[in-house]
Amino acid sequence: MDKMIAGFPDQLREAVEIGKQIQLKNIPNPLSSVYIAGMGGSGIGGDFVAEWVYDKCPVPIIVGKGYRLPAWVHPPAMAIVSSYSGNTEETLSVYRQLQERKVPIIALTSGGQLHQYANASGTDSVLVPDNWSSPRACLGFSIVEQSYILQQLGLIDNFFERDFLNAADLLEKETEAIRMLAEEIAGQLVDKFTMIYALEGMEPVALRFRQQLNENSKTRAAHFCVPEMNHNELVGWKKQDNHLAIVYFLSDYDSERNRKRVAISREIMAPLAHSVFELHAKGNSKIEQALYLVYLGDWISWYLAKARGMDSIEVDVIDFLKKSLSEK
Ligand code: PA5
Repeated sequence: MDKMIAGFPDQLREAVEIGKQIQLKNIPNPLSSVYIAGMGGSGIGGDFVAEWVYDKCPVPIIVGKGYRLPAWVHPPAMAIVSSYSGNTEETLSVYRQLQERKVPIIALTSGGQLHQYANASGTDSVLVPDNWSSPRACLGFSIVEQSYILQQLGLIDNFFERDFLNAADLLEKETEAIRMLAEEIAGQLVDKFTMIYALEGMEPVALRFRQQLNENSKTRAAHFCVPEMNHNELVGWKKQDNHLAIVYFLSDYDSERNRKRVAISREIMAPLAHSVFELHAKGNSKIEQALYLVYLGDWISWYLAKARGMDSIEVDVIDFLKKSLSEK
């Protein structure tokens, strides 16, 4: 896993090369909305991309995680179906429903049944390399290819390519410093329940870190977003709990009002937790800053796995669940 995390900058570069080659056959016109279906490590890419195009894309981009397909998803809507393995039950179920409703689909996968179905039915597909052992380590492919797909659909300009390449350079340059900081923070998260906070516009960063703590570090954690948590979760902070560690992800793209909210909330929360960490993003664009925090969070999750004596690659329980379900 450390090799895969260290390979993230190069993965971004490789993903850009793949993205430049994407040639979609079916581009609906008009196009009312895009539904992105995917689970876990293949679902979170959609969260990031939807956030980055929030103030740019003229139609709704909605991410769905599960078996169901909302009633509004009918042509002229279209869908991106994302599964790294191509064999995830929920995602394949959505794929079939989309076909029944004749919704144009773009399959984003490294192979598996999704690739077979897409080939058999002439569905547009974007293939990413199949030699990465963990879908969550393929976030770079997922976010970059989905950005190019939205560009090809005519929904956004190519504002992202330079940001992804700059992010790759930034992360490479900062790797040593990031790893040192990550190791230090991870050392203080051992045996703690981590409460993770990001501000509006950066929520996927908090979600990613929570999922990486779950899957890489084999620990439980919770994540929340400001300002929404000011209206509910904050009320739960009444009693001292020394098992709690707080992590705030902060960026230059946080609004002034939300920063004030964090400052006030922190006064309430910090005395009741064991420790508080503020992680500040670096980079010259929203994408760079988000990916800086992702990379830092990924390294923290790896050092935490190491400190806890956990194998950061295995997800035996997910495999067990998938296998048990396939037998039923
Ligand atoms: O990171 C993981 O291994 C999981 O979260 C998977 O991404 C998830 O189970 C879905 O599988 P796939 O990405 O192959 O569709």
